[in-house]
Amino acid sequence: MKEFKRTLITTALPYANGPVHIGHLAGVYVPADIYARYLRLRGQEVVMIGGSDEHGVPITIKAKNEGITPQDVVDRYHNIIKESFQQLGITFDVYSRTTSKIHAETASEFFRHLYDKGEFIEKTSMQLYDEQANQFLADRYVTGECPHCHASGAYGDQCEKCGTSLNATDLINPKSAITGNTPVLRETKHWYLPLDRWQGELEKWILEGHKEWKTNVYGQCKSWLDLGLQPRAVSRDLDWGVPVPVEGAEGKVLYVWFDAPIGYISNTKELLPDSWEKYWKDPESRIINFIGKDNIVFHCIVFPSMLMAYGDGYQLPDNVPANEFMNLEGDKISTSRNWAIWLHEYLVDFPGKQDVLRYVLTANAPETKDNDFTWRDFQSRNNSELVAVLGNFVNRAIVLTHKYFDGKVPAAGELLDVDNTAIAEIREAAKAISENLDTFHFREALKQAMEIARIGNRYLQETEPWKLAKTDMARVNTILNVALQICANIAVAFEPFLPFMSEKLCKMLDMNKLAWDQLGRFDLIAAGTQLGAAELLFEKIEDETIQAQLDRLARIKEENKCKAWQPEPQAEPVDFDTFLKVDIRVGRVLECERVPKADKLLKFLIDDGMGTRTIVSGIAKYYEPEQLVGKQICFIANFPPRKLKGVESQGMILSAENPDGSLTVVQPEGDLAPGSKIV
Ligand code: 2FM
Ligand code: ZN
Repeated sequence: MKEFKRTLITTALPYANGPVHIGHLAGVYVPADIYARYLRLRGQEVVMIGGSDEHGVPITIKAKNEGITPQDVVDRYHNIIKESFQQLGITFDVYSRTTSKIHAETASEFFRHLYDKGEFIEKTSMQLYDEQANQFLADRYVTGECPHCHASGAYGDQCEKCGTSLNATDLINPKSAITGNTPVLRETKHWYLPLDRWQGELEKWILEGHKEWKTNVYGQCKSWLDLGLQPRAVSRDLDWGVPVPVEGAEGKVLYVWFDAPIGYISNTKELLPDSWEKYWKDPESRIINFIGKDNIVFHCIVFPSMLMAYGDGYQLPDNVPANEFMNLEGDKISTSRNWAIWLHEYLVDFPGKQDVLRYVLTANAPETKDNDFTWRDFQSRNNSELVAVLGNFVNRAIVLTHKYFDGKVPAAGELLDVDNTAIAEIREAAKAISENLDTFHFREALKQAMEIARIGNRYLQETEPWKLAKTDMARVNTILNVALQICANIAVAFEPFLPFMSEKLCKMLDMNKLAWDQLGRFDLIAAGTQLGAAELLFEKIEDETIQAQLDRLARIKEENKCKAWQPEPQAEPVDFDTFLKVDIRVGRVLECERVPKADKLLKFLIDDGMGTRTIVSGIAKYYEPEQLVGKQICFIANFPPRKLKGVESQGMILSAENPDGSLTVVQPEGDLAPGSKIV
């Protein structure tokens, strides 16, 4: 493997139209941070770049819906995102934004340079235009009937009902989302980056030169390349974004996916105004892009083509370790449906538990396939791994040292086989952690780090220093010295993964400086060192806490059902005479009780104006019997009697079905005479 002098770690710039959630974290930011921390511990020159992606149509739609400006939207979310990343311990060297001045200048210059070099082709096409709003309509601003499944309300880029990708001009009966008017077709000019010009270079670079990339990344690149690349438009008719820096391009901005990756360059410039180029252009530097799988084509095909077109020594990424998606409780995470665990809310609900989230998201990272986050798994990993394995071992070692040596680290004597075996096993695990981190296998690296704590627990179990304390104090010295050196190894090995725990542990062990080459060493804490008080590293998470989170998700699911609700399509026509055959009457409820052994049924005694009748109705889940006594209801009087759970029902009470599937009894207004006919 080639050795590099320095590393630039970039992380996908999250759209500032919502906060970040666990899917973002598991896919991009936690692995990137682990890697950055690891390289720093190894003493390497590294910078980690982040920032908010503040352009694009969804931000303008959100602003319009809320009656605020796009700048207001991005200001709100940029601050939430930045703050929450910092609290989770994501160590960006710079976290900037694409509405910054330096970014506008950098992106603009980038475009202009390609333009001047003749790297674009100009094309005119017909696009939908809203004559009342006086603007071209971005795909998301057009809705209409899907030409495939004929659902209404399909967007110009996609039908959410059948999932088909669309062109806005394909929609049947398109309408502008701004004014509701029917748009017209108008000619417009755009600049296209001819990706096909770079096909050969890209094939060489990826398919021949980067066979070591993750199979999901390599595979996606291969499919794109096998299909044959096409020119892509890099400008849009929109008033939110970096203006196209060319005469006659008024009202046009750079396409968000053109300017966003240039954000990596702008952010490096912002961080290192005088030396940014060494990270981008020096062959001894390498660039690693951490992204989610939906960004692969932009990072492996589009942005590299832009960089090659620019020339001037810009290097392509050395690796793009993209992850798959993290689902939540079996369903795809969705910002618009609020189906997510938002980082800023987690930090409030679980104060001081940043490492628990980092742990669970890494232990279950979607590295090779989509994975599922569940609250039960979160609880069980905390309780049976962090508390029972890691916390327990460290606590035992430190408490025993306090008990037998007043917290002063004892000196080790001669090592026996049992000690040497534990030491050798830990050195093996340490080696495996490094190998896995070097190859972006963060899940496995974390598993190996946990292995150190498991070895520690086994070691104490086998050596039983609490028993030897009565007979062989010299052995206890050695055992606790070894156990504390294992704790020190834990502090080092876990720093990239669980930095808050590692810091706390360092304080307890009085360790000042961590370095990766300490891993596997057993002289990390000198004999005689005074340990701090034993503090618990993790605490148990109770069922109630988890239930509260599950209840929240259940509420969101219900709300979504209601939002997605649409009335049933109208039934087949019936003629008036048929309707008249149904005898609907008003009645008053005299008595109401549950039907034994039938949890859905209520039995009513109804005053029907002619006498009384019994009606059984399947609404027991929605009413207590006494709630309806004395109330007026509507019922069908001329249904033939039928038996329900042994009770004869002489009619049917009318109810309306709510969006969530529950039933509400239809009650006429005013005081009507029982027996009144409904016509
Ligand atoms: O998919 C996204 O969230 C994009 N905002 C990622 C942009 S990454 C980069 F190119 F800036
Ligand atoms: Zn459709």
